[in-house]
Amino acid sequence: MTRGTFISFEGGEGAGKSTQIRRLAERLKADGADVVLTREPGGSPGAEQIRDLILNGDVDRWSPVTETLLMYAARRDHIERVIRPALDRGAIVLCDRFADSTRAYQGAGGEAPISLIKALEEQVLGGTTPDLTLIFDIPAEVGLKRALARGGEARFEAKGLAFHQRLGEAFLEIARREPQRCVVIEADDAIDAVWADVWDAVSTRLGL
Ligand SMILES: Nc1ncnc2c1ncn2[C@@H]1O[C@H](COP(=O)(O)OP(=O)(O)OP(=O)(O)O)[C@@H](O)[C@H]1O
Ligand SMILES: [Mg+2]
Repeated sequence: MTRGTFISFEGGEGAGKSTQIRRLAERLKADGADVVLTREPGGSPGAEQIRDLILNGDVDRWSPVTETLLMYAARRDHIERVIRPALDRGAIVLCDRFADSTRAYQGAGGEAPISLIKALEEQVLGGTTPDLTLIFDIPAEVGLKRALARGGEARFEAKGLAFHQRLGEAFLEIARREPQRCVVIEADDAIDAVWADVWDAVSTRLGL
């Protein structure tokens, strides 16, 4: 039985997820909580190796279906070795991207069949789904500008504005369909203003 709390951060490139999730981890740790901060793709040694295959190289290196399968291979290892053990001992798991990113990037953006993605969610997640998901909403051009200024892994950043606009829509659609799980965070704002909304959503859900 799960005793911990699983929170995922989702949304397009440069929306501020990694910036805010680090701040949340620090805040919760300062309160004495057992916090595991992790990310996808990656989060376990094997999954980090798969991350490298997914995020680097030519923009068309993988077909959408191959990319989906790589994502789920990485996700399964991450769940088995990091997320599940942490939840079982009662920790708060903060995950920078999770399954909704596959729906958005490989599904809506890359056009992998939604039937495949749903089957993988059912068979591979094994019920390990977030209790709360913060969906960072930002105009694609604003997020891309931030991400390009930051540098780093750039395979998805290279896919062009229309791709990133589809992503934003796909994340909002997920939030509309699952209002109990998802909270939309208006991310085109100053870091402290976004943080206030993040903390409000998390502290409400955790009953702090
Ligand atoms: N509210 C903000 N206003 C302006 N700049 C920001 C804001 N939040 C983050 N940034 C900056 O924008 C860049 C991207 O932020 P961050 O890496 O947190 O985004 P991300 O959502 O994790 O992106 P990715 O999906 O590419 O991992 C960083 O350089 C960060 O310092
Ligand atoms: Mg990030």
